[in-house]
Amino acid sequence: MTKPIFGLASNGKKNLLSGSAPSGNLTIGNYIGAIKTWGELQAEFNCYYMVVDLHSITTRQDPKLLRERSLSFYAQYLACGLDPEKNKIFLQSHVSEHAELAWVLNCFTPFGDLTRMTQFKDKSAKHPKNINSGLFTYPVLMAADILLYDAHLVPVGEDQKQHLELTRDIALRFNNEFGETFAFPDPFIGKVGARIMALQEPTRKMDKSDPNANNTIYLLDDPKLITKKCKSAQTDSGSEVRFAEDKPGVANLLTIYSVLSGLTIPQVEEKFVGKMYGHLKVELAELVCATLAPVQARHADLMKNQDYLHSVMQKGADLAAEHAAKTLARVYDKLGFIPKGARK
Ligand code: TRP
Repeated sequence: MTKPIFGLASNGKKNLLSGSAPSGNLTIGNYIGAIKTWGELQAEFNCYYMVVDLHSITTRQDPKLLRERSLSFYAQYLACGLDPEKNKIFLQSHVSEHAELAWVLNCFTPFGDLTRMTQFKDKSAKHPKNINSGLFTYPVLMAADILLYDAHLVPVGEDQKQHLELTRDIALRFNNEFGETFAFPDPFIGKVGARIMALQEPTRKMDKSDPNANNTIYLLDDPKLITKKCKSAQTDSGSEVRFAEDKPGVANLLTIYSVLSGLTIPQVEEKFVGKMYGHLKVELAELVCATLAPVQARHADLMKNQDYLHSVMQKGADLAAEHAAKTLARVYDKLGFIPKGARK
């Protein structure tokens, strides 16, 4: 008999968890690579989606902006189609167990493992004046996010795979020492491995914290700005609209077009045979605007209805906290901490 999977939800489904930090603004890359696909997973899995505000302060945030952004991120999740009735959608800081488990896991993470994290190296190079310990232990907090909810599947981009590996190492180490305590997480690779690249530098990923706003299309950009950004996207030498490795700019625009239209790349190429890059850009801009218009309208409605927004946010946190409290109690018990009120 194969061993039963540890930590399945009460309805027998696997748990799936992901999140995004409210630093910068959500981009069409986040939409295509993550949030749009999250909504399609809600039937199959027991899903947890977070706005990871605790993670965001590893780089300095303006408090007022952070507050606004966290709420707006949450509203954008809903506006992109995440149903709060079918998913647990919450702010990380609303569930205090994240920080508590992170401390424990810190004590099970070799220092040397963290020094190998490429994101730490990149970020400390970018922020040489603020290389704080939180930046260093960031992946441990992420491990806590994942292990708290017995997440079996974690949709993450290429850049987060190393953090997921570390999470698996931590879980294994703990389980080996204390018996099965944590479910073992696997990366979840979505159908389309669509990686959207920066518009002006199409050899690197579109990044919501990019200082050059022309590299990114934000979900809340107005149509004029979207059109301007699409038109000024860097394209390659030559003029043929074709998906090729030596045409990263055109390939990126074709990828966005393909995902948003539902056409395959060859079908999109076919559509633009004999046309110029400019045609592709104009039509792409129209498609992006048409896709984002309903998202923007729903977002605006939600932001006007703050009572509703706060009430679903609270509900999401309560549901998440139920699961998180059970996991943390299991961990504390294994470690030998005395439960509060144990002897009444
Ligand atoms: N570190 C992730 C990122 O930068 C965000 C994140 C935090 C996350 N906790 C997580 C993603 C847990 C997946 C699961 O994209």
